[in-house]
Amino acid sequence: MLSCRGQNMGFCKWVSFIFLLLLPTLCNSSLNSKELAELTVNFLNSAKKQELVEWMVDVRRRIHENPELGFEEFETSKLIRTKLEDMGIPYKYPVAVTGVVGFVGTGRPPFVALRADMDALSMQEGVEWEHKSKIPGKMHACGHDSHVAMLLGAAKILQEHRENLQGTVVLIFQPAEEIGGGAQKMIEAGVLENVEAIFGLHSSTTVPIGVVASRPGPILAGCGFFKAVISGKGGHAAIPQQAIDPIVAASNVVVSLQHLVSREADPLDSKVVTVAKFEGGGAFNVIPDSVTIGGTFRAFSKESFSQLKQRIKEVIVAQAAVQRCSATVDFLLKEFPFDPVTVNNKELHEHFLSVASDMLGSHNVRDIQPSMGSEDFAFFTEAIPAYYFFLGMKNESRVLLERGHSPFFTINEDMLPYGAALHASLATRYLLEFHPSSLSPKGKINDEL
Ligand code: NI
Repeated sequence: MLSCRGQNMGFCKWVSFIFLLLLPTLCNSSLNSKELAELTVNFLNSAKKQELVEWMVDVRRRIHENPELGFEEFETSKLIRTKLEDMGIPYKYPVAVTGVVGFVGTGRPPFVALRADMDALSMQEGVEWEHKSKIPGKMHACGHDSHVAMLLGAAKILQEHRENLQGTVVLIFQPAEEIGGGAQKMIEAGVLENVEAIFGLHSSTTVPIGVVASRPGPILAGCGFFKAVISGKGGHAAIPQQAIDPIVAASNVVVSLQHLVSREADPLDSKVVTVAKFEGGGAFNVIPDSVTIGGTFRAFSKESFSQLKQRIKEVIVAQAAVQRCSATVDFLLKEFPFDPVTVNNKELHEHFLSVASDMLGSHNVRDIQPSMGSEDFAFFTEAIPAYYFFLGMKNESRVLLERGHSPFFTINEDMLPYGAALHASLATRYLLEFHPSSLSPKGKINDEL
């Protein structure tokens, strides 16, 4: 036995020094790369077992039948809690109104998080099938029902293999992704406290089944909305000189807004300004008092985003004034908080490539171009190192899938085992392979594009 008393002090200091040098290695995986790959394949085999597949399909269909909008996911949340209780997984509830946060593993650091969004869309389902939405005017048309099922599937795999967990996996079931605000509220409620990294996925109708796609750096755009009321003076359509026509003013505003991207933006810095709403007038022979326009704007850096926001306001007000109209501009922050840019951490990208390649084969792990779509997962990427990827469900030998937010959107349920296994593997291997301080600071929003 080594003694650190008396004359052995110097030797012990030396031993301690060597130990400290070895510490990062000791904290890393005790498994070699072959064993890590085997663990990953085992997780997929577990996820593909008929019993678990049927269980996930049942969860997904039950949520699909009872879609709930943002911050109203009470039944969905209840179902999640029941399933976690059945598995013996402790959780916190309520978090951000309807959110649930489960904990699998040692209950001690390090902590790594997995996130699923729970909310549906306010639209009528057009697909006739046994498990069609039972709630008129509400539908899971973005696959969030499947996201919940896959994270619960991952919880099952993690709980069954908890001896592999060198830390704790935090399961984040998040409300209100579609209307925005859910991720931000969860973060404000403290769900990321002590969490080192977080992973999220989205089903994709354009990526084949068994394939995943992502990229390091910015993957989804920052997103904002605007609404403007352009006011003139109503009057008889045949006597325009007695009126101040807001229709013509608003038309010029719409045209001028097109120049923000085409004439003011760097062509290599992707941006979008779309006017999607134009409301004014109700008769063929009456000039209305006012016109309301509204739309969205997107950009891939904080700077581009705030510049666009400022210019949208300036152009609307100034262009309306050219036609003697006044204008007010509202960025609707209360209803639709701005989504930041979703930025994937580069080290986590390497981790994703390694895990996904071990599970699916490297030819099934694809690069994807950034998209002008947005996600409130972006708030997580602003807060801590985070990673978001797309999970394929396209199967060309079957019916072609409609894109998300279509009333005819459907899910290829064959995707569920892949999502569950990837979630479970990304988290387990993160805890095995990453030392607490080995990640660079949070993925910063940058001008990479
Ligand atoms: Ni979605």
